[in-house]
Amino acid sequence: MISFTLNGKTVSTSAEPDTPLLWVLRDEFNLKGTKFGCGIARCGACTVHLSGRAVRSCSLAVAAAADQQVTTIEGLAPAQAIPLERAWVQEQVPQCGYCQSGQIMQAADLLERNPNPSEEQVVEHMKDNLCRCMSYTRIKKAVLTGAALAREEG
Ligand code: FES
Ligand code: FES
Repeated sequence: MISFTLNGKTVSTSAEPDTPLLWVLRDEFNLKGTKFGCGIARCGACTVHLSGRAVRSCSLAVAAAADQQVTTIEGLAPAQAIPLERAWVQEQVPQCGYCQSGQIMQAADLLERNPNPSEEQVVEHMKDNLCRCMSYTRIKKAVLTGAALAREEG
């Protein structure tokens, strides 16, 4: 058995150690907010946090999560989630929406360590999270807006 903390609760799985974390999250724990896109760590749709850092769960063996903290979009702390969600609505970011939970998890990772990023820092941090609907300009605006909202509320 592999145990880890998932959105604040201790969980265990009997999945094979090399099973991608993404499938354990979706199929065993029914957390469907984390999406499958490419499966090869190239698109960011599957982004979750592993002990506070953004990782691609499609390419991370569940064994790597042992005794660590895994956070999915469903468990993102309100202080991180609420400003970003408000900003995403304000900037009307999503089109199909498929990539957006990964985008928000990637953005939350940035704002956790850099509450006041420059536009260039946002672009650099978000550049590997792909959006086939091309919502990049709105994503960039929303990350900056979310950072401003978080600073106001913080
Ligand atoms: S599905 Fe994991 S990076 Fe694309
Ligand atoms: S909103 Fe459709 S893939 Fe990003």
